[in-house]
Amino acid sequence: MAVTIQQLTQWKQKRAIISLTAWDYSLAQVLDQAGVDIILVGDSLAMVGLGYASTLPVTLDEMIHHAKAVCRGVEQALVVCDLPFMSYQTSVTQAMVAAGRVLKETGVAAIKLEGGHPRILETVAELTTIGIPVMGHIGLTPQSFRILGYKQQGKTPQQANLLIDQAIALEQAGAFAIILEHIPSNLAATITSKISIPTIGIGAGNQCDGQVLVTADLLGLSGKQPPFAKSYANLRQVITDAVQDFAEEVQNQKFPQS
Ligand code: KIV
Repeated sequence: MAVTIQQLTQWKQKRAIISLTAWDYSLAQVLDQAGVDIILVGDSLAMVGLGYASTLPVTLDEMIHHAKAVCRGVEQALVVCDLPFMSYQTSVTQAMVAAGRVLKETGVAAIKLEGGHPRILETVAELTTIGIPVMGHIGLTPQSFRILGYKQQGKTPQQANLLIDQAIALEQAGAFAIILEHIPSNLAATITSKISIPTIGIGAGNQCDGQVLVTADLLGLSGKQPPFAKSYANLRQVITDAVQDFAEEVQNQKFPQS
């Protein structure tokens, strides 16, 4: 049975929601078969997959291209695609056109967008009204790194209250889940207790309803990773060893065998 948005809501505070990022067919297939609940075609693609210095340059066409590949590999997980920088901030109409393209052309179940200020809330409300499910994302929002940097958000009482208000407002606007990125764990716990939709944390402590990581960080493939990420493997080393073994066998005419 494929994961549904309704199931995610029911899982809140019953069982942890597992989410990881993917941007190609093979990896998406492995994550899906490993039982990941939500596969996010995140705009971290820009940095991890395409080598840009930030998430800003990735385009809507590139996100659609990768989301299509991911969807071809997934049978069970709920696939969510980020709307990239400047594909939704200009107007509600722009957001509708971008989100509509993503849903029509890729097969993903939902889109994600960053922020919780009034214009974004209006956009979330309009998108959900026309049948496009939206995942929110507050705290450290990398598309705003020119203003926020990459530091932890919500550290002062004012900032914390703003994030609590934004989370409540996102739920009221119709978001089905919210990513909480790089905020204090007690703040994430407060937000999680104040809303009835699931929170998915990244660098937000262990009291969220689920956790997400950038898969390249989890696998030890990223050149550099944020302080809150954890690597469960060292694929850089595994790949280097495999490539060197291959090179050595070719040099010594051990491969191919005849
Ligand atoms: O783009 C991304 O991968 C994300 C996750 C870090 C949540 O938004």
